[in-house]
Amino acid sequence: PKPGWSVDADVVVVGSGVAGLTVALRCAAAGAKVTVVTKALLDDGSTRWAQGGIAAALGEGDTPGQHLDDTLVAGAGLCDDEAVRTLVTEGPDAVRRLIATGAQFDTDADTGAILLTREGGHHRRRIAHAGGDATGAEISRALVDAVRAAGIETIEHALVLDLLKDADGRAAGVTLHVMGEGERDGVGAVRARAVVLATGGMGQVFSATTNPAVSTGDGVALALRAGAEVSDLEFVQFHPTVLWLGPDAEGQQPLVSEAVRGEGAHLVDADGHRFMVGAHELAELAPRDIVAKGITRRMQERGAEHMYLDARHFGAEMWEHRFPTILAACRAHGIDPVTEPIPVAPAAHYASGGVRTDLLGRSTLPRLYACGEVACTGVHGANRLASNSLLEGLVFAERIAADVTAGLREASGPGEALPPEASAAGTVLAGPKARLEIQRIMTEGAGVLRSRESLERAAAELARIDEDAATALEAPGTESWEATNLLLVARVLVAAALRREETRGCHWREDRPDRDDTAWRRHLLVTLRPDRT
Ligand code: SIN
Repeated sequence: PKPGWSVDADVVVVGSGVAGLTVALRCAAAGAKVTVVTKALLDDGSTRWAQGGIAAALGEGDTPGQHLDDTLVAGAGLCDDEAVRTLVTEGPDAVRRLIATGAQFDTDADTGAILLTREGGHHRRRIAHAGGDATGAEISRALVDAVRAAGIETIEHALVLDLLKDADGRAAGVTLHVMGEGERDGVGAVRARAVVLATGGMGQVFSATTNPAVSTGDGVALALRAGAEVSDLEFVQFHPTVLWLGPDAEGQQPLVSEAVRGEGAHLVDADGHRFMVGAHELAELAPRDIVAKGITRRMQERGAEHMYLDARHFGAEMWEHRFPTILAACRAHGIDPVTEPIPVAPAAHYASGGVRTDLLGRSTLPRLYACGEVACTGVHGANRLASNSLLEGLVFAERIAADVTAGLREASGPGEALPPEASAAGTVLAGPKARLEIQRIMTEGAGVLRSRESLERAAAELARIDEDAATALEAPGTESWEATNLLLVARVLVAAALRREETRGCHWREDRPDRDDTAWRRHLLVTLRPDRT
């Protein structure tokens, strides 16, 4: 579109979770003029909802090498070793700098040492937490406070539409639709010398997810429209223990953190049988994909809609002190974990894939960076290790900030931004009603358990929505943009899941039940021509 208003910055950061706000703070500290744009309020993204914590080798006797080993095992042969080594080696200091920025983690009252818990796939206590089970909320609070204190410009309610490029094809800003008031209402642009996507995930592509309503794959869709490379989209992680609220529950669902199992809760079926014991050496604390599969298998065998997480033995005091958020969420839905087992089932949780980047967070388009869940740095492989996501956001944000600010010293002011090649105006928009339809199709065809048949059906139904959109001529607006982005990422995800004819990590193909290291120890990369959407 022809921008109605424009703002100039050195760096525009799109998104305001741990990744985006850390990039913004570090760039601003190095003297860059930063503008943060975010689709809702500054603290409305996924970071705020993170419960269990942030993984780093902070405990006595723990080492980055042991963290590396656990991450590689969980990633099922597809992690990039160098990316993981970077994550685990730089992780502990990145967490210390987060603490210096103001985040307060739970500590031992006597020694002051950071308290550490366990989660799936970790062979030792390695997860720092805050407020018991409200780690993300505390990180978000600290970073939002720091961004405000630093006077960084923020534009809220700003839905990013497309990438602007200069005459040399370098990222030169973004177009935005601001649902605000005053001079910045409507479509506008931020022109900048570097663009950092930190837009989070795409959990809303499924009916039931732990992700907030804003997680609609906007960053991946923008990157695809702009011609950047995207990788590993078939690896959607389903969190094993999400509070089960009935077969028709839709949208964001309450998470029951892995840390509850880390502190000793048991997964049981309706007869009280612990079905993960014997299924894996770590039982309930096996990597997340294995627990999600174990639960799904048991549900199938029993014809059940959910399993149970039993932590009655914690007692009221521990529940209130250690897991206040989860206790309140369960009680709000009429379940008291102190006296009864919690009904749980897997739900979509995390996109292990995303915009392909190198170790400095650079995408395949010059001056376009990606950080956090929207990125695919290679640290997660086919299945992310629990609590590595906040850490990835932190570590790679610092690397991106260093690269961006070094680049700014060489580059001149904002170049002339040309209209986006795949402009918002040129994109056919899906109707707002498409969102529910896409979620149903994806849940039925591309959920925790997939097959060629289910994926082909999903691909055909999604193609039909695309065809309908071409004739419907929807008016631009947040809902239609979100549906458009969901449709694009859903189609690419299904195509990748169809193509990967094996079972690996969180990609579980009923018709191809084995891991195939001969043919499939490789990544599926996708690039759309920038003039095609
Ligand atoms: C949890 O608390 O179980 C979520 C941790 C994660 O997604 O890494």
